Amino acid sequence: MTARIGIVTVSDRASRGEYEDRGGPAIRDYLDNILTSEWEAVARVIPDERPQVEATLRELCDDEGCCLVITTGGTGPSQRDITPEATEAVCEKMMPGFGELMRTVSLRAVATAILSRQTAGIRGKSLLLNLPGQPKAIGECLDAVFPAIPYCIDLLEGPYLTTDESKLVAFRPKKK
Ligand code: MTE
Repeated sequence: MTARIGIVTVSDRASRGEYEDRGGPAIRDYLDNILTSEWEAVARVIPDERPQVEATLRELCDDEGCCLVITTGGTGPSQRDITPEATEAVCEKMMPGFGELMRTVSLRAVATAILSRQTAGIRGKSLLLNLPGQPKAIGECLDAVFPAIPYCIDLLEGPYLTTDESKLVAFRPKKK
């Protein structure tokens, strides 16, 4: 089964074409580099409008069948930043450990990592994960949390993701 992975750039300016979306392609490149199992991207670039972010997340989970949906942008403190609220609104359960770990590792790189309210949660059989908008944050954050993502998707009865172990080792607890 080919895994479908949603990649959502949440940015007023990128969605208006005022600047090129660099976050979405950075996520795609990251996944292309580490995943050895087959996957395809379902990409969207949308403004920081909460109803539109919620509708896009629901569409990627419910209609497009994405086992994983990764957002970039809109996690900060400014008025237009609503990605974590939209994520929480569409999730049945939150996975706070993802945000905690990403902020912890990001703090080693930048003091402003605490300004990101990035979170993660589960909607149906999909894992939703927020990343900050800075393209360099994408690798920093995904390196930290990705080892746990394939097993999380196993638990959600999704496709079996495998990685290039010379780059990133996915942790799966041994069967008893
Ligand atoms: N995390 C990492 N790893 N690297 C970064 O450069 N930038 C921070 C923070 N987290 C950053 C980071 C900054 S400056 C902000 S304002 C917040 O993420 C929120 O960014 P966003 O609103 O683009 O999502």
